[in-house]
Amino acid sequence: MKKIILLILLMASPLLMAAGGGYYIGEKVQTNIRSTESLRKGAKTYMNYCMGCHSMDFQRYNRVAADLELTEDEMMNGLVLTDAKFTDKMTIAMDEVQAKQWFGKAPPDLTVIAKARGLDWLYNFLINFYADPKSVTGWNNLTLPNASMPHVLWELQGVRTAHFETHTDEEGNEHKEFKNFETVVAGKLSEQEYKDLAGDLVNFLDYSSEPAQLTRMAYAPWVLLFVSLFTFLAYLLKVNYFRDIH
Ligand code: HEC
Repeated sequence: MKKIILLILLMASPLLMAAGGGYYIGEKVQTNIRSTESLRKGAKTYMNYCMGCHSMDFQRYNRVAADLELTEDEMMNGLVLTDAKFTDKMTIAMDEVQAKQWFGKAPPDLTVIAKARGLDWLYNFLINFYADPKSVTGWNNLTLPNASMPHVLWELQGVRTAHFETHTDEEGNEHKEFKNFETVVAGKLSEQEYKDLAGDLVNFLDYSSEPAQLTRMAYAPWVLLFVSLFTFLAYLLKVNYFRDIH
């Protein structure tokens, strides 16, 4: 019996996560996986700001270059900051045990994070960091409260503090409700530019979680065209067959 309950809970857990699970999702993200330009921008931000801590073990540089229509030179000299080889997997040298000591938690591999968390979650995680003197890193996150990841894009977004309101319900329990952010140090980018950058990054993570999406999406119009043509032919055939039946 216990096993069955556990199984049901396990099967339902993605649904529970998708239902929000209490995570703060303030805005939805618009991405376009067919925009090579957006994917390139996202890849660039990833290499510059994320690859230091997060590997992408199930991707290779040459595959990303091919999908993003970049030459070997553009990829390895324009985007990649390490002396990795073109055919290498996108691994990193960070030691997991040490990483745990530094951050309290090892930064996870991000190849398929878009499948686990969803695009809106990732986007909100990236735009909802705020300064919090009570946390070890000095940062906190509305979407992943008490995250042990520092706000690595703060120079671009700026430094913000968050204001909360505390309500006490009838049973005497206190609830903290988010009110608004206050910018204390302006970032290099405007609010919209930063959101665009986060959107491109999420687009790249989405692509990375399933590179075959690019070909799958390219086939789709042809499949639909075939289905409509076939329906039309089947209709003509039906008209022909039923002509003499009254
Ligand atoms: C200085 C190291 C460091 C850098 C650089 C970094 N992260 Fe992180 N990241 C972490 C750590 C540590 C965690 C674990 C946080 C936790 O679970 O509390 C994390 C967690 C995450 C998660 C949440 C994973 C999950 O589902 O729980 C995502 C998504 C993420 N990082 C994305 C990024 C992106 C995108 C960038 C580049 C803009 C980036 N990170 C740069 C250290 C880093």
